Amino acid sequence: MSSGNPYIKLKYDYIMLSYNRNVLLMRSVNILSWIDIYKQKLVTAEEAVKHIPSNSRVVTGHAAGEPTILVDAMVDNYIHYENVEVVHMVAMGKCGYTRPEMKGHLRHNAMFVGVGTREAINEGSADYSPSFFYEIPKLFKNALPVDVALIQVSLPDAHGFCSFGVSCDYTKPAADNAKLVIAQVNDQMPRTFGDNFIHVSEINYIVEVSKKLLELPLPKIGEVEKAIGENCAKLIEDGSTLQLGIGAIPDAVLLSLKDKKDLGIHSEMFSDGVVDLYNLGVINNSKKSIHKGKMVVTFLMGTKKLYDFVNDNPSVEMYSVDYVNNPLVIMKNSKMVSINSCLQVDFFGQVCSESIGLKQFSGVGGQVDYVRGTSMSDEGKAIIAMPSTASKGNLSRIVPFLDQGSAVTTSRNDVDYIVTEYGVASLKGKTLKARAAALIAIAHPNFRDELAKEYEIRFKEVYN
Ligand code: COA
Repeated sequence: MSSGNPYIKLKYDYIMLSYNRNVLLMRSVNILSWIDIYKQKLVTAEEAVKHIPSNSRVVTGHAAGEPTILVDAMVDNYIHYENVEVVHMVAMGKCGYTRPEMKGHLRHNAMFVGVGTREAINEGSADYSPSFFYEIPKLFKNALPVDVALIQVSLPDAHGFCSFGVSCDYTKPAADNAKLVIAQVNDQMPRTFGDNFIHVSEINYIVEVSKKLLELPLPKIGEVEKAIGENCAKLIEDGSTLQLGIGAIPDAVLLSLKDKKDLGIHSEMFSDGVVDLYNLGVINNSKKSIHKGKMVVTFLMGTKKLYDFVNDNPSVEMYSVDYVNNPLVIMKNSKMVSINSCLQVDFFGQVCSESIGLKQFSGVGGQVDYVRGTSMSDEGKAIIAMPSTASKGNLSRIVPFLDQGSAVTTSRNDVDYIVTEYGVASLKGKTLKARAAALIAIAHPNFRDELAKEYEIRFKEVYN
């Protein structure tokens, strides 16, 4: 192994020592061991990215699993590419592929929009492709065939299998379907279980690094988030299986669950908050209907505390997103509770979670996968939780009409519970009029009179 890195060398020596017998056995019958294969594929990042062809589609590993050294090397090499599409979802790295000078060389096609990509997408120098998260692996088989997968994985285990670590999601399916796989092998990538491995023989080029994973800072939880968390907690019964989205609200919900029992996790992602509840014994996965005793997840995003927790931890299983987020899989968990957030809800109960008017703010992610799967679950509850106002209290998020151009993320036919700091509106089975009334009751008091006037115009009766 060519790495000068002492950590990598140490781990490598250990593997060599433990498995020397197997290697010698294979050599004696003239079969290349995985270690020989691994060594043959070692290159620098600069060499690896030269193999990306022009007129191709590159899919990069997701979220905290982004192979930042490879992505940055590709961006540095941009002048040598023509017409390369870079597909990424939650982008936590530098997003250099959106810079103006990339025009004609690299163009970003986003499956989700975030801080690093929002401006380019709304200016028109990058694109957004709407898709339910669970359908993305299928896109990689047909509508968006993958030429190159840039992935980040753990060190190989004794048998030559590297773990996709914190990101199985669409990253493993992208590698499974790519013509060329370039891997950043990072000794700091945790080894996680489930169906989350790739053998070194399936990788074309390997670049060794020792680099801290990208981290998601802990969100600030204020009084509003705490109140939302408490209102959500009232809907969560002992023995429920939870899906939690990203951010302050899911973390606030977790803080309000310390007195619950026998909770389980089947979630697109989870963060540090789950570790605390697991260590307290509140989450034990004992009442789950499928994968009993295990937390099932497709990606992980948090701090080193989370990444250390999942490393070599058999209580966490990772599968690709077409399994974890498939509504038909989610529904198998009885008492499933999903908790996601949004930007605006109208009187019909139409939920916009991804745009502010025409401005693409984020993406659908797994929200609808979970709203639908949860609604089909026996005793399931699909919660959309949000602060009642936006823009420092100047705008109500509960509105008679969505802003012009807004995308409907969760439809009025799918919506179930809306929660704010002022309470819970249960919308399923309610008439349009009853929905509007229930929503006004949990709007911020500063906006209730205004909303009541709109109610009276629309429904031709007094709001009370
Ligand atoms: N009109 C105008 N501005 C609005 C607004 C509205 N209706 N709603 C929110 N905003 C502004 C906020 O004021 C805030 O800006 P500020 O920080 O300058 O005040 C900004 O938009 C972000 O709003 P906030 O509610 O703080 O966003 P968030 O970081 O909590 O994320 C979502 C909320 C909805 C964007 C996020 O949950 C999401 O992307 N959801 C869709 C995907 C999903 O649910 N995935 C689930 C599985 S992970």
